[in-house]
Amino acid sequence: MNCCKPDTHIIEEKMEPVHIPEEGRERTSEKMEQFIYPSIYESHLSNVLISNAEIKSRVKDISKAFQESYPLTEPLVLVCTLKGANPFFAALLEELSALSIPYIFEFLRAKSYIGTESSGDVKVMSADIPSLKGRNVIIVEDIVDTGGTLQKLLPIIHSCGPKSVEVCTLLTKRLIEGNGSISPKFTGFSVPDAFVVGYGLDYNEMYRDLRDIWILGEKGIALGGWK
Ligand code: XMP
Ligand code: MG
Repeated sequence: MNCCKPDTHIIEEKMEPVHIPEEGRERTSEKMEQFIYPSIYESHLSNVLISNAEIKSRVKDISKAFQESYPLTEPLVLVCTLKGANPFFAALLEELSALSIPYIFEFLRAKSYIGTESSGDVKVMSADIPSLKGRNVIIVEDIVDTGGTLQKLLPIIHSCGPKSVEVCTLLTKRLIEGNGSISPKFTGFSVPDAFVVGYGLDYNEMYRDLRDIWILGEKGIALGGWK
């Protein structure tokens, strides 16, 4: 469920995600010096999965893929799913502006996770978006995990009457059972099945402020996030 009405100008190929290995980066003290984080998080975090520099470089690749996939004769409509996608969204907008790609943007708030478990009950706020009608729409997500959030969001977006709808996600989680029926056209990285935090991704509202993406450690999980 990744598209609706075909548009002759839109390229159908999907972006292959960058594969991040199971264990993330090796955590030697020398290598860790480059990663900065608030001292109160010391011992909460396990390995760095993706550095800020790798994210920024991938954002450039994704922006170029937008440039190649869409006609630049009309603005794209980029829909940010709050809160987690916000840093990725901001980086993407900056890069698209640098490439002179026209866009407008909207925000949706979706919430499904309680702690490290998907509640299966996705709540969507501010869903009536008139600016989507007749437009090429791209939903921007932080992570596709079970696919439940997008399965709920996509029909809402389609009901606004867009010309096309695609999904752009920074991360896709490698689940044995797959990500539901969700197959994003634009994906940054494929990550292992671990709970990841940082660069907007949270555990009960904590760790969104990290520059890099980390695997949350056992201590961090036990502490339970923001209380
Ligand atoms: P689903 O399962 O609906 O998940 O595809 C989508 C939303 O749930 C959040 N999510 C996570 N947040 N670490 C996080 O910090 C994770 O590993 C994780 N997995 C899912 C996220 O908001 C995503 O948009
Ligand atoms: Mg999200």
